[in-house]
Amino acid sequence: MTTGRFITFEGIDGAGKTTHLEPLAGAIRARGAEVVVTREPGGTPLGERLRDLVLHEPMEGTTEALLMFAARREHLVRVIEPALARGAWVLSDRFSDATFAYQCGGRGLDRGVFRALASLVHPHRNPDATFLFDLEPGLALERQRAQSRDPDRFEREAAEFFRKVRDAYLERAREEPARVHVIDASGGLAEVRDRLVREFERTFP
Ligand code: TYD
Repeated sequence: MTTGRFITFEGIDGAGKTTHLEPLAGAIRARGAEVVVTREPGGTPLGERLRDLVLHEPMEGTTEALLMFAARREHLVRVIEPALARGAWVLSDRFSDATFAYQCGGRGLDRGVFRALASLVHPHRNPDATFLFDLEPGLALERQRAQSRDPDRFEREAAEFFRKVRDAYLERAREEPARVHVIDASGGLAEVRDRLVREFERTFP
């Protein structure tokens, strides 16, 4: 493997995607590639400060979406593009699909405006593959509660919000079936990991 790929993990809070990030990175490293594991919002010093704000500071929906894209621009320029340019694989815990799902789907913001913003922030760059961890929102909320940590602004949203976010994610999967791979995130950890690995190997043999 000489040429890296840009891979993103998506899903509603509690779907469990973050758990599977490092094991997949390990599997790609075992093929001899460099892997950069990163996340959004975040991934850079400025991005992490913006993350702290959007997760905890009350703000209006459009402000929230703009901060997500501001953090994304830094992330793209400072981390994602340089890593891909040197042939590394990039595994990002969320990217633009999250804005379309949470801010457009969940908060009802206009998709067209953010499609234009996405083409300003990451022109000619989209994930090569996105693994969407799909789970029924009731189950996801149960999983989150079992973790019993301080919920952030998004995690405090009601089930109805997550239903809209999930629907928006699934809509993106229908629009771009070659890129977005839906992983059934119900069941045990090992079961979900096996589904991910199978789908990954089918996508990148
Ligand atoms: P998340 O990725 O779930 O991390 P953790 O597991 O540490 O909670 O948290 C990021 C939150 O930010 C998540 O609730 C979704 C939200 N988010 C958006 O609303 N829009 C975006 O564009 C991104 C990247 C994230």
